[in-house]
Amino acid sequence: MAAKDRKDTTRYNPVWGTVDAYAFPHSHPASRPNTTALGNALTASREAGLPEISVSAAQGKFLALHCRAAGVAHALEVGTLGGYSAIWLASENPALRLTTVEYNPLHVEVARKNIEAAGLSDRIEVVHGAGVDVLGRLRDEVRAGTRPLFGFVFIDADKENNWNYFKLAKEMVKPNSVICVDNVVRRGDLADLGNTEPFVVASRRVVENVGKEPGVDSVVLQTVGEKSYDGWLWAVVS
Ligand code: SAH
Ligand code: DHB
Ligand code: MG
Repeated sequence: MAAKDRKDTTRYNPVWGTVDAYAFPHSHPASRPNTTALGNALTASREAGLPEISVSAAQGKFLALHCRAAGVAHALEVGTLGGYSAIWLASENPALRLTTVEYNPLHVEVARKNIEAAGLSDRIEVVHGAGVDVLGRLRDEVRAGTRPLFGFVFIDADKENNWNYFKLAKEMVKPNSVICVDNVVRRGDLADLGNTEPFVVASRRVVENVGKEPGVDSVVLQTVGEKSYDGWLWAVVS
């Protein structure tokens, strides 16, 4: 369905936020040890003028709990922003080490401060650089045996490079690891074949190519919540 024919409920339906506001504090009461650090990271990021496009609290916790259930020791993220998703992954997993890649120098500075304030600088490394360059270097290190394989990858940066990121990530994960690509649904634009914006075309490309990739099983999971309507590609590499 074309965007112009859709009801405004694909933009934002307030009940989605209401359900997050009801359910999240039950599963994650404000007394939890990471609540202050996560809240402070969002506040500091907003005050520094960063865009408010981090994952929702529920999504951040979901990714972190996945890492716990899968016993992930080393995770990789492309697109740090202010470090909000990074703080979720590390604070819910006391043994997890995260490498997170960010291109924008202001975002790197804000993220490093937020991660330091959260007491997680020893386990989260923010690498400044363009995702394709940095992932290429990381892949070479993994190949050379000087860096351990990753057990989870979260791809959440410039969407035009999603397929490039996926191919690089696939080369440096342990068997049965998840690679998650954020924001592929974008309020239904994914399936609006008349929409040829680069962001949307890139999402279709990664969904279609991952589906054909040997040794990969994938699914697109649509999500609603306080961050509106979107969805991610969830792929297991065998
Ligand atoms: N994962 C974060 C949100 C990331 S937003 C969270 O949920 O908290 C996307 C980020 O990708 C932005 O900070 C943007 O600067 C960064 N980015 C954009 N292009 C990039 C590139 N080529 N390489 C690395 N990061 C990039
Ligand atoms: C948007 C949301 C994201 O999570 C992201 O990584 C980039 C953009 C958005 O809603 O525009
Ligand atoms: Mg995102």
